[in-house]
Amino acid sequence: MPVTTHQLIQWKQQERSIVALTAWDYAIAHVLDAAGVDLILVGDSLAMVALGYDTTLPVTLDEILHHAKAVRRGVKRALLVADLPFMSYQESVQQALHSAGRALKETGVQAVKLEGGNPAIVATVAQLVQAGIPVMGHVGLTPQAVHHLGYRQQGQSPETADHILAEAIALEQAGAFSIILEHIPSDLAQQITQKLTIPTIGIGAGPHCDGQVLVTADLLGLSVRQPPFAKSYVNLREVITQAVQDYDAEVREGKFPAK
Ligand code: KIV
Ligand code: NA
Repeated sequence: MPVTTHQLIQWKQQERSIVALTAWDYAIAHVLDAAGVDLILVGDSLAMVALGYDTTLPVTLDEILHHAKAVRRGVKRALLVADLPFMSYQESVQQALHSAGRALKETGVQAVKLEGGNPAIVATVAQLVQAGIPVMGHVGLTPQAVHHLGYRQQGQSPETADHILAEAIALEQAGAFSIILEHIPSDLAQQITQKLTIPTIGIGAGPHCDGQVLVTADLLGLSVRQPPFAKSYVNLREVITQAVQDYDAEVREGKFPAK
C-alpha cells in the first residue's frame, strides 16, 4: 500500500523508524522504491549531487519539477516529497501557493518541503496546508541559508537550541506533517522528537529522531564532496571506475563485443 502522511504519524506512535532517501531520476527512484524506502525526497541537494553546483541556491523550480516528474515515474509505494527551491516560496504566500501547486499538479508529488521556521515561513506553511497541500518542515542547518549560517552545526547554545525547538513547534502547529532536523545536537533532536506529535526525520541529528534521511549520492559513494555526518554504504565511484576500465580494456583488446 502506498505510504501516506497519516501513516508516518502512526509509525511515530508505534516507534517504527521511518526510512527516507533522496532521488533525482527515474532509475534511482525505481531502485529505492522497490527496496522499500518509506519516503523519497526530490531534494534540492540535486543541485549539488546531480547538477554540479557548489550550493543548492541556483536550482530553479522548473529544474526541480523536471527531476520530480522522472522520480514520480519510478515510485509506486514511497511517499514522494519535493523540495521547493530557494526563492520559489520566500517572496510571498502567493508565490509559495503557486510553486507548491505546480509541484503537485505538474509532477504528482504528494507533498512539498520548505526550509526554515521564522514567522513568515510558518504563516506560509499554514496557508499551504489550508489549501490542501501537505508540507514538510526543515529546521536546524537549512542549506538555502548557507550564506547566513554556513554548513555549521546549529543549536549548540541554549538560546539557539530553544529557538530551533520553538520553530519546530510552530511548524507543527501550522500543520506540517513531518519535519527534517538537519545537523543539530543529538540531545536537541531528542527533545524536539519528544515534544512533537509529528515525526522528525534526522540528518546529522543523532539516533533519537523518528526517522533518518540521507542524500542517496552520499549513501552510494557517488558524491564528489559529502558532509561529515553522512555515511557511505558502498563506494559506487570505485565500482563504476572498475567497470569502465574493464569495458575499456575489452574494447581495446577486441574481446567486446564477441564475434
Ligand atoms: O535536499 C535534500 O537532500 C534535503 C535532505 C538533506 C533533507 O533537504
Ligand atoms: Na533540501
